[in-house]
Amino acid sequence: MADEMQQVDAVIHRRLASEVALINQISHYIVSAGGKRIRPRLVLLVAAALGFDGPERFELAATVEFIHTATLLHDDVVDESSLRRGRETANALFGNAASVLVGDFLYSRAFQMMVSTHRMRVLQVLADATNIIAEGEVLQLMNMHDPDLSVDDYLRVIRYKTAKLFEASAQLGAVLADATPEVETACADFGRALGTAFQLVDDLLDYEGDTHSLGKNVGDDLREGKPTLPLLLAMERGTAPERDMIRHAIEHGETERLPEIVAIVRRVGAIAATREAARAESLKARQCIQALPESRAREALLELCVRSVERSS
Ligand code: IPE
Ligand code: IPE
Ligand code: MG
Ligand code: MG
Repeated sequence: MADEMQQVDAVIHRRLASEVALINQISHYIVSAGGKRIRPRLVLLVAAALGFDGPERFELAATVEFIHTATLLHDDVVDESSLRRGRETANALFGNAASVLVGDFLYSRAFQMMVSTHRMRVLQVLADATNIIAEGEVLQLMNMHDPDLSVDDYLRVIRYKTAKLFEASAQLGAVLADATPEVETACADFGRALGTAFQLVDDLLDYEGDTHSLGKNVGDDLREGKPTLPLLLAMERGTAPERDMIRHAIEHGETERLPEIVAIVRRVGAIAATREAARAESLKARQCIQALPESRAREALLELCVRSVERSS
């Protein structure tokens, strides 16, 4: 997809422009660090799989990447994270206020861009998606330090905060191609399942990943007392003293016993079980798009499902 992604990159750089120096500085800082650009790939691949090749696809691909980038700027403030894409986070370098405000700039620029496609359906999908993402982040905030969080409530958070934008990205590919409502729904379902798998893996990599290849600090979730699936499963499976230790860590955030807890999470198989849950979602995603006409783009989408689960970065 190198050529296509270069076109997306061109739109991204053109659309970042602002007369305000600090906006240029911060937005280029985070965008030039790269990232996997999965969401714009989803827009392009679904559009291609359905035979659409108009130039609006680049604008929309860049739009979803802007929304994603805005959520990262905000998320790193909320999570007090210090490393992103292998660099110091914008909040660490420029401060919380600047990060939040430039995040708002990117959000609102994304809305200017989606309007430029002159399609009401595009506006509908992305207005709903951004609203749900915000709800997801607030729900997660409410769940912080709660060791009694249910798996269902955890899944709801990741469906909102992450899977929704994957869903919207895949759906937009179908909207651009004027797909039938059935096909549009299948693409949306595909994106939602893939995004769920993706966040499950993100959460497990916070325990077994490697800071260098991830480009973000491993262990942040535990440090801030975020009850993610690896911890919820470890509490279910561990001994009573282990359960107490994890409960305490979630309630208070933990730095001192971090290695001990990571060892428990691994030993009781909570990481492997989280990976299995991700595999199941990824399989669901694959099934949603089996009915699309055979093409290289469809093959790439299927491959993305595998890579999203087996990844280490
Ligand atoms: C990070 O997303 C935030 C999550 C939803 C887990 P990505 O892992 O897609 O981040 P980049 O864009 O590749 O840095
Ligand atoms: C990311 O969740 C969700 C959004 C960006 C909306 P995380 O907090 O797990 O993402 P990372 O690990 O900081 O990238
Ligand atoms: Mg975070
Ligand atoms: Mg994470």
